[in-house]
Amino acid sequence: MERISFFCDTAELSLMQVTDLHLALRYPLKRFFLHKLARLVKTEDPQLLINSGDFFCRRKITSPVPIIRLFDHYIGTYVPWTFAWGNHDLEIGRKGREDRLFEKVEKALLRSNHCLYAKSSIPRPSSTGGDAFTGGNFVIEIFQRGEEKPSWQIFILNSGRKQHITKEVSAAMEEEICRYERSVPGICFFHRPIKETDKAMKRGFFKGAGGERADCGNENGRLHAELKDLGTIKACFYGHDHVNNFFFRKNGIAYVYGRKTLPFAYGSSSLSNLDRSRQKDPRTIAWGFLMIKLPLSQKAFQEAPAIEITSILENRETEYRWQVPLKGTQRKAETFEEMNITMTC
Ligand SMILES: [Fe+2]
Repeated sequence: MERISFFCDTAELSLMQVTDLHLALRYPLKRFFLHKLARLVKTEDPQLLINSGDFFCRRKITSPVPIIRLFDHYIGTYVPWTFAWGNHDLEIGRKGREDRLFEKVEKALLRSNHCLYAKSSIPRPSSTGGDAFTGGNFVIEIFQRGEEKPSWQIFILNSGRKQHITKEVSAAMEEEICRYERSVPGICFFHRPIKETDKAMKRGFFKGAGGERADCGNENGRLHAELKDLGTIKACFYGHDHVNNFFFRKNGIAYVYGRKTLPFAYGSSSLSNLDRSRQKDPRTIAWGFLMIKLPLSQKAFQEAPAIEITSILENRETEYRWQVPLKGTQRKAETFEEMNITMTC
């Protein structure tokens, strides 16, 4: 698996997750909203931004390259960013000719001044189409300056169109983790939820807002078992379902939806139009993003060994703020069952 090193001088690392932007050239408001998002980026001041897929829109789009340039211009100017492929991003290009366009997009990402991206070195599975494309599986290692061992491994993964993260990718993650004898904590970003998300939702064992079925595609439960066996993964962040904004924990791993960002496509609206949008679809909630804080220094680990996660809707904070403890056993209040709270914003 390809590796990118990211150096920090701070006691904690502040990440921002945006997802499901669904940008397409036909939207005339795109620049306006990217500008608005840039203002929020400036206010929140993250050190790294993760765009977790469905960046582009429909299969009709033949050239996502200008969108990458635009995003790099509006957002990358303020914060380095990275990208995990979403199912719609894998629909670009005509059937049978996807490869050329995937290469073109990868080149544009690699050439962007502020984008951290690495081509995948993982072999292709035997399937065809978007799911045979293994680009975008890489790890960003977070180093405190002067340290030889990273404080965190952030896995950026391609969840494909149907098959989700492949066994080959899980094996490559294990190799990366074993380089440090499983002593470096990790988090993952990918686009599509997993089977456990669907199960948690059906049983009501989650906290936050749930407005639609968790669409985990063909994922059959293999992934949670593999992530658990890796032994270092503390949290996974994804998107894909636009009106879900919730989290749950299982076997010490927090699974967290990132709030859909920007008002393009279903399920989200600007605060100014929210009431009107809800008349059409009552499930609609304001667009937003996640802020995630990872402790880096020894002191931060000792004093507050937890990942802090806050879901922010457009320009106002919601009630969705929680901590994922990194040490010891789960406290009673964090057990699965006691998170049985469903809220609509
Ligand atoms: Fe999606």
